Amino acid sequence: MAIGETGKGVDGSYEAVTTASRAAFDRAAAVMPGGSKGAYFYSPYPLFFERGDGCRLTDIDGRTFLDCANHHTAQVLGHNHPAVVEAINSQVSRGVVLGGPTGVETELAEELCDRVASLERVRFCNSGTEATLHAIRLARGITGRSRIAKFEGGYHGSHDAVEISVAPPLENAGDAASPTPVAGVRGIAPGATGDVLVLPYDDVDAVTRLVETHAGELACILLDPKAGILEPVDGLAETVSALAGEHDILLIADEVVAFRLARGGWQQTRGVTPDLTTYGKLVGGGFPIGAFGGRAEVMDRLDMRGGPTGFHQSGTFSAHPVAMAAGVATLRQMTPEAFGVLDDLGRRLDDGLAQIVCRHDLAFSWVVAGSLFSLYFADHAPRSYRDLVACRKEWNSLLFHRLIEKGYYLSHSLGMNALSLAMGPEDVDGLVAAIDESLEAMATDAG
Ligand SMILES: Cc1ncc(COP(=O)(O)O)c(C=O)c1O
Repeated sequence: MAIGETGKGVDGSYEAVTTASRAAFDRAAAVMPGGSKGAYFYSPYPLFFERGDGCRLTDIDGRTFLDCANHHTAQVLGHNHPAVVEAINSQVSRGVVLGGPTGVETELAEELCDRVASLERVRFCNSGTEATLHAIRLARGITGRSRIAKFEGGYHGSHDAVEISVAPPLENAGDAASPTPVAGVRGIAPGATGDVLVLPYDDVDAVTRLVETHAGELACILLDPKAGILEPVDGLAETVSALAGEHDILLIADEVVAFRLARGGWQQTRGVTPDLTTYGKLVGGGFPIGAFGGRAEVMDRLDMRGGPTGFHQSGTFSAHPVAMAAGVATLRQMTPEAFGVLDDLGRRLDDGLAQIVCRHDLAFSWVVAGSLFSLYFADHAPRSYRDLVACRKEWNSLLFHRLIEKGYYLSHSLGMNALSLAMGPEDVDGLVAAIDESLEAMATDAG
């Protein structure tokens, strides 16, 4: 299939086999601007899905794909795992939400605290966005400082405090070693950018200098390790952790994605002990969820026994019983052996890509961390937001559409994909072969 720059099949072949998706999209876009959510859109219109089973998705035109996106990495067991389905059904059969605690939230909190050494207390909310909002608010309330530090290119959700310098145009972004905070979208409160100190992912010296200069103003440093997206530079996590400790700044590890790496999450793999950690995605077993937690001394500000503390966190659907039940059932499958299986699949993908890449005269690279992976058109794996900007992004949709045609569904940006426990080695081999054939065809087309 020849694909144009926009990702639209220039010979109409995508359109020819996705007529039901086209009709569903036209209907959706009449009542939802550009479809149901920003992240679902790609040109000319997204596939609509009928169902998911294990590692496969079926679109409403009846075609089947290996699911390598796994709902923005949330689906670690694949789709419809019997233990998760049973837990959901059992919870729903007792009433969906009952207006009081049911105890299933305690089970999920215990499961998390048991896994993660830095967690003594956890609170639940409905999204990763809410988790970072509440963690930052707690940090500001405890320290009495208003500014936060975050990394350029780091995404921590869609509230005003963090949707800053997520993907800034470089002409506005200032010097790489001292980035200018840039509002991510229109409508962010005007003061929000001034409350953010932006740090570069790939420059430990610059991070040290910036944090030391502004230490007295900083409530927290928000660190998303970008597992599977950026190649980590040596010493970044350790430096950030040490700086936070020295200056009484709270370190918030955003493990909304990175919790996929190990039983105790990313922090277990680095030996870092954050003050607070935020969670989402896989923790809800496919349902909307967020969570944040840390040591008792920090989290217990939210404990209202004895009256108001000045701190508060709640929400109509926070600790939703069905999400809690799905999360418990999912995490119970995530044994050390299960992480071993995922790591083996990830290594197989990494090795497979290393074997095929030399056959192509294309600047192509990738990052694999555990079961997370991203693909790039660049001659080396990116280490910072500015490296990501330098990738040949216009080729992403070409590869994405070629892989769709071969029956492989990835994130349309090719960043933040995930393998699942429903996959076997043959699925990974198939993906590598499909990438190999697609790159060859793309190189031929490019002449
Ligand atoms: C690292 C990170 N933090 C926070 C979020 C926000 O989570 P949510 O989309 O559940 O609000 C995301 C979402 O992709 C994320 O990747």
